[in-house]
Amino acid sequence: MIIQVKEVVKQFGGLKAVNNVSFDVKQNEILGIIGPNGAGKTTLFNLISGSHPVTSGKIEFNGEEITNKKPYVICKKGIGRTYQVVKPFGGISVIENVMVGAFNKTTSTKKAREYALAILEKVGLNQKKDQVGKSLTIADKKRLEVAKALATQPKLLLLDEVMAGLNPTEIQEIIPVIKSIRDSGVTIIIIEHIMEVIMTVCDRIVVIHHGEKIAEGTPKEIANNEEVIKAYFGEAVSNA
Ligand SMILES: Nc1ncnc2c1ncn2[C@@H]1O[C@H](COP(=O)(O)OP(=O)(O)OP(=O)(O)O)[C@@H](O)[C@H]1O
Ligand SMILES: [Mg+2]
Repeated sequence: MIIQVKEVVKQFGGLKAVNNVSFDVKQNEILGIIGPNGAGKTTLFNLISGSHPVTSGKIEFNGEEITNKKPYVICKKGIGRTYQVVKPFGGISVIENVMVGAFNKTTSTKKAREYALAILEKVGLNQKKDQVGKSLTIADKKRLEVAKALATQPKLLLLDEVMAGLNPTEIQEIIPVIKSIRDSGVTIIIIEHIMEVIMTVCDRIVVIHHGEKIAEGTPKEIANNEEVIKAYFGEAVSNA
């Protein structure tokens, strides 16, 4: 197991945004996390990446406990993440944005630039490398999020809705990018609402609803799971 999330709870005041969630991810797997809006998916990423402390529970990465460590410590250990609300450094160029990530593993500007360039080619942003971050379209800002996270050289990559807001053509372009990231030896956890993506990309899916894990299984098992259908469409549809 590359990561083990054990009985994790996150409480915001009276709200349990994540309530006793456990799951494991195997090396080189792509795990999907799905669930209705407000289910607690992004909060789960914030706990894994150290952006928020857990209320209780434990997170282990490669057998080592990383619960409540600082985000830069967790990043250095090999967990990279993207943000659902894209966060480019607006005033610097696309390649410089990616170099910031690359400095996680090198102090050489030359190496960081070379590495950033290779990643920009991979995600299809090399033509725009000299534009400032804020000038990009939303689709390209999403690509930049992936590039920045990849530049940190993660062993585990957390992708939070990197395809939301993209058109069908753009989605078809990014699917092979995600598969190739996995093929290069990176384990991936992906939060996504677009079912077509989840069903074609994921080996396994965890479903979160009201902060709790309500199902776990292969895409096929999840598509036929009664609890999951209820969570998404309500009782009426699942009984119809
Ligand atoms: N920093 C915070 N302070 C207080 N409440 C929060 C905070 N972050 C998230 N929440 C609440 O926790 C719950 C889960 O939010 P979260 O963003 O994790 O959901 P999500 O599953 O990612 O939803 P979406 O699909 O809309 O992105 C929501 O009710 C949200 O309002
Ligand atoms: Mg979210």
